[in-house]
Amino acid sequence: MSKPRILIARAVFPEVIERLSQYFEVQTNQADEIWSKAEFIARLQGQVGVFTTGGERIDAEVLAACPALKICANMAVGYNNFDLNAMSKAGVLATNAPDVLTETTADFGFALLMATARRITESEHFLRAGKWTKWGVDMFAGAEIHGSTLGILGMGRIGQGIAKRGALGFGMNVIYHNRSRLDAGLEAECKAKYVSKEQLLASADHLVLVLPYSASSHHSIGAAELTQMKPTATLINIARGGIVDDAALAAALRDKCIAAAGLDVFEGEPAVHPDLLNLPNVVLTPHIASATLPTRLAMCNLAADNLIAFLQGKPALTPLNA
Ligand code: DGY
Repeated sequence: MSKPRILIARAVFPEVIERLSQYFEVQTNQADEIWSKAEFIARLQGQVGVFTTGGERIDAEVLAACPALKICANMAVGYNNFDLNAMSKAGVLATNAPDVLTETTADFGFALLMATARRITESEHFLRAGKWTKWGVDMFAGAEIHGSTLGILGMGRIGQGIAKRGALGFGMNVIYHNRSRLDAGLEAECKAKYVSKEQLLASADHLVLVLPYSASSHHSIGAAELTQMKPTATLINIARGGIVDDAALAAALRDKCIAAAGLDVFEGEPAVHPDLLNLPNVVLTPHIASATLPTRLAMCNLAADNLIAFLQGKPALTPLNA
């Protein structure tokens, strides 16, 4: 009997392809080309499953053009590339890759916070440019981290990881805002206090964004919110581009409405708003919060587990619309 056909939309670890090839006829993209939507649709013809990385949009148009498709397995926790309503209507299962990246992503969120608040990349550029001629008392003086107030917007698993790092590792006073309040046990574990969004914006010395992207979280941080923040505050976005209005943020950073920002995700990435590229008080990284080899391998393997389970008639491990 012929094996079911699946498509892996981007280059992945060879061991993942090898594993999947035991169960499926696998079409790969090891050249790591970025396909247009038309090309993606063409390559999806006859495939029953697709391994996506978070950049490939699965919407009504794709689903209508690919009637054989039964499962889309994202190797990312975020799934804003999936139109879940359209997928459910078409009877196509969506899965994501939660949990396996939580600690790694929280580590990175903290690394970006520290690099931003302590002006690490800005001072490194200064040194590499040969501008360091003398030590200075207030040279690259940054913001305090220990003992400061850490604000977290979006208190899922990654938010909780950041809260614990801040409270337990750096003695920070942790406040958060979320759609729903955590139960008392989890709040105590994270040493985090629930506040309104207004209080969060006004009180945070460092505000970390970890909420999922959706139409309702689009531009959660725009000009109005930025003006409510402290002029000494740092803003960290490791969630999704589009949660922050990047043009408004660039203006706020230019006008010193807030002190600094650390951004791992961007509206329209991999394009980055040109005004951000020209500012010294922003640390920019190319969507790498979960990028350690063990974590990226675990994310790929979880996507592969979902494909294997579903196509063997078993329940998927991490379904989104089952
Ligand atoms: C995720 O898993 O959502 C990360 O942002 C990587 O895409």
